[in-house]
Amino acid sequence: MSSPVVALEDVALTLTGNAGPVKVLEGVSLKVAAGETVGLVGPSGSGKSSLLMLIGGLETATAGRVEVLGQELTAMDEDALARFRRGRVGVVFQSFHLIPTMTAVENVATPLEIAGEADAFDRATDELAAVGLGARLEHYPAELSGGEQQRVALARAAVTRPQLLLADEPTGNLDGATGAAILDVLFGLRDRHGATLLLVTHDAEIARRCDRVVRLRDGTVERFAEAAE
Ligand SMILES: Nc1ncnc2c1ncn2[C@@H]1O[C@H](COP(=O)(O)OP(=O)(O)OP(=O)(O)O)[C@@H](O)[C@H]1O
Ligand SMILES: [Mg+2]
Repeated sequence: MSSPVVALEDVALTLTGNAGPVKVLEGVSLKVAAGETVGLVGPSGSGKSSLLMLIGGLETATAGRVEVLGQELTAMDEDALARFRRGRVGVVFQSFHLIPTMTAVENVATPLEIAGEADAFDRATDELAAVGLGARLEHYPAELSGGEQQRVALARAAVTRPQLLLADEPTGNLDGATGAAILDVLFGLRDRHGATLLLVTHDAEIARRCDRVVRLRDGTVERFAEAAE
């Protein structure tokens, strides 16, 4: 495999919370090629979200090597990580992380404005229309349903056309028809812009469309399984 977009080598993550240290990930090695779509599955608590956070540079590995888009993240400080992510890595969190004081269109326009793009609001408007939210542009997150907030989060992650998109249960709260629109946006990033996708999902339709499914159990990669036909 020539220069993978994601290369993890024997990665461990231990988080210390209220109840003491927890081995969240251990001995995880994973390579994802450019343009590849990988589904990440596994039981609740197996470490899927934590793995996405590591790859997105939002969490730092306790041990091992994390290389993303040719850069070694383990060696970077917070500022370097923020610069690394900007415009190149899109993240859709499980809990959306929208900015509550900004409307839908302002949330989506923000990464473009940070990148200094002139037509941020027009592009944000188009991106929201693509996820079926053309009529909700001026709503604040608290004035949106859970599934609508999720779609705003996807629009915000997709609007910069990132090379790598990390999405945590992107269709988790959506009905079939809305989920299909989300899949069009996700796979459109791949098909039209060559993006690499890493998708945490329990959705059989998404898993079927992935090139490969990686299964986590108790913080380790359990096995590689080809996506079912
Ligand atoms: N800050 C923390 N301190 C200690 N343990 C944590 C912390 N954050 C997460 N964990 C633990 O790490 C494990 C993995 O969590 P993670 O969120 O990655 O799981 P997941 O596979 O995404 O689960 P789900 O399908 O429920 O979203 C869990 O057992 C969780 O309790
Ligand atoms: Mg999770």
